[in-house]
Amino acid sequence: MRAEGKDVIAFAAGEPDIGTPSLVDEAAIAAIHASKGRYTSAAGLPEVRKAISERFRADGYDYAPDSVMAVAGAKAGLYMAIYGTVNEGDEVLFPSPFWGSYTELVRAVGGIPRPIPCEASADYQPDPARVAAMITPRTRAIMLNSPNNPTGTVYSRKTLEGIAEIVRRHQLMVISDDIYDCLVYSDEPFLNVLKVAPDLRSQCVIVNSLSKSHSMTGWRFGFVGGPKDLIQAMIRVQSQVIGNPHTISQHAAIAALRSPIDPTRRASLDARRKLIVNELAAVKDITFPVPRGAFYVFMSVERWIGRSFRGQTITSSAELANILLKDMLLAVVPGEAFGVERHIRLTYTVSEDHIRRGIQRLAEFSRELC
Ligand SMILES: Cc1ncc(COP(=O)(O)O)c(C=O)c1O
Repeated sequence: MRAEGKDVIAFAAGEPDIGTPSLVDEAAIAAIHASKGRYTSAAGLPEVRKAISERFRADGYDYAPDSVMAVAGAKAGLYMAIYGTVNEGDEVLFPSPFWGSYTELVRAVGGIPRPIPCEASADYQPDPARVAAMITPRTRAIMLNSPNNPTGTVYSRKTLEGIAEIVRRHQLMVISDDIYDCLVYSDEPFLNVLKVAPDLRSQCVIVNSLSKSHSMTGWRFGFVGGPKDLIQAMIRVQSQVIGNPHTISQHAAIAALRSPIDPTRRASLDARRKLIVNELAAVKDITFPVPRGAFYVFMSVERWIGRSFRGQTITSSAELANILLKDMLLAVVPGEAFGVERHIRLTYTVSEDHIRRGIQRLAEFSRELC
């Protein structure tokens, strides 16, 4: 629609509009000029594994270079972690709403996705009692993502300690998707199961990437740390299906991993978070918990369902998303993509002008509903 000249405001794509740090660009260009675009070992260049191990150490995890690997983005890391952990018929738990790939990645290896229902009224924290009640003899792993896509919640120490206890008791694996770890806006620290329960080291695999932290979404560079035997198995899979993560991106990643994350990135996203939350006050009949991490607002549009807009009755959030695109030139992602109906997700990585104008359009829409 933009190509047709339409002024679409897109709150859909999960990527920052901030540029990749120039030192990363320069490292990639230098690697190209030095003709470094050759195959590497499947786990990544030795220098990359060293840089990953150092970055993990700086974040408080003790992973030697042989217990880490480079992957082609967190998505590939998650897939191989699941492939290395889950057998056919094994169940994998994860909080719902969830990032849409979780169900498909689990199904792809013959596993059974078991979403854990979480409520906005409980800040979308997974309730350990509910998790415990979902355990069966086939439960193999739990996958967690905090700060969370799509809800923007950040799991508390209490939640994580409760889950750690269940993981310990039932000998589960934790696949920790820490891709938004550098985007917590409140005073609370970033935590995951391993941070609150270091004794679970042999049961946790940490998946991260430079996609969100360095605006390197298209560079496809992620990194994983975990028990050495699991990492070795994942490297064997990677060797057969990918070969190695993109070599030029690996050279750029060394520069990214070894430099501190620019704090102005988080500050800029935080300013937009506050702006969108303020602007949304003008939109009628929606509710949402104020996000504290990542870069999404996940709102209930329960009270819009069944009402009509310019003669069209809104029967689902998927249909709502179509109407918003067509009539208001607003792109949002419907809750169905995250396993829950009657919600939409807005990404606030767009300019402040787009946030103001886009939310004005949403407010107009809400006023016109009858
Ligand atoms: C929760 C979550 N995990 C993983 C990914 C994939 O990240 P990558 O681009 O590093 O593959 C995303 C991307 O949006 C995400 O939101």
